[in-house]
Amino acid sequence: MYSIVKPCLFALDPEVAHDLTISSMSSYGRVFGARAPICGRAVQIAGLHFDNPIGLAAGLDKDGQAVSGFSRLGFGHIEVGTVTPKPQPGNPLPRVFRLLREQGLINRFGFNNAGIDALVRRLKEHPYKGILGINIGKNKDTPNESAHLDYVHCLEKAAPVCDYITVNVSSPNTPGLRDLADASRILDVVKPVLDARQKVVNRRHARCPIFIKLAPDFSDDDLNKVLEALVAVEIDGVILTNTTLDRSGLTSPHRVEMGGLSGSPLSQRAEHCLQVANITLGGRLPIISVGGVMSADACKQRISLGATLVQLYTGLIYQGPRLVKDAIRITR
Ligand SMILES: Cc1cc2nc3c(=O)[nH]c(=O)nc-3n(C[C@H](O)[C@H](O)[C@H](O)COP(=O)(O)O)c2cc1C
Repeated sequence: MYSIVKPCLFALDPEVAHDLTISSMSSYGRVFGARAPICGRAVQIAGLHFDNPIGLAAGLDKDGQAVSGFSRLGFGHIEVGTVTPKPQPGNPLPRVFRLLREQGLINRFGFNNAGIDALVRRLKEHPYKGILGINIGKNKDTPNESAHLDYVHCLEKAAPVCDYITVNVSSPNTPGLRDLADASRILDVVKPVLDARQKVVNRRHARCPIFIKLAPDFSDDDLNKVLEALVAVEIDGVILTNTTLDRSGLTSPHRVEMGGLSGSPLSQRAEHCLQVANITLGGRLPIISVGGVMSADACKQRISLGATLVQLYTGLIYQGPRLVKDAIRITR
């Protein structure tokens, strides 16, 4: 089926194709309802039970419009967002580009989203039985000195309608955001969020786990320093990685576009980060691997390299929704 749909989608401008996908998945979900995750290799982390280790990465369904539709693919977890306190339009168009030769994408969306209040209204009492995550960020016009207030605001509103929160300090498309992930500063955001977590419960009326999503562009040393800082404050898990700024080895015409690169060209780097983190952490924190996972075999490989969960985004666009079921089966 996707072999027919894909050429049609790829004939469209990438953002038009994206919007069409979201509206189709949203309608699909409205007609057929949410489904429970496919049972695969079950995973227990941070007090959450995942029926299988395969999840939807943040950024595809930023406003949580199509959770029921995406649930029908069988995911064990779905992460929506990134959401910010106030709605914001994101960067001017065009802001997403296909790198066909390399099976990659470059995007510079810049956290376009309808804001936390709209997301919470939509997800309230959502019937999805799998694990639902909300990825939170700061508004573009919030200075880094007060960024923690944006994250705390989103956490307080989002926790009651989801199962876990991801603190996103890794998008390259909000100026200065990645500075918040520096080992010397990361706790300026993370500590207030962990403190605020004490006062909220998640949608299952339980403690709300906090994950953090990091960029792939750290040196090994810097990554290790950040990880040690996160272990010390008892964060619940680390998502590795967001998109990269690196452009090595690309030949596609769009390689010069500004933004974050995802898909196949990111896989080696994301695997490297996973390996480094796995050695450093030695099981002290679960690792959720994302970045260039383009096949079911690659999912299996990430788990064998120490990932507890694996998330998909660009792989779905190039390989289609079958990838989810294949990945669940092969990782069983
Ligand atoms: C178009 C696009 C938009 C994205 N938006 C977000 C986002 O809002 N928040 C986030 O944490 N990650 C975002 N990501 C990053 C993905 O969640 C993922 O970390 C990254 O794309 C690497 O995985 P992949 O190679 O499988 O796509 C986005 C990625 C793409 C391609």
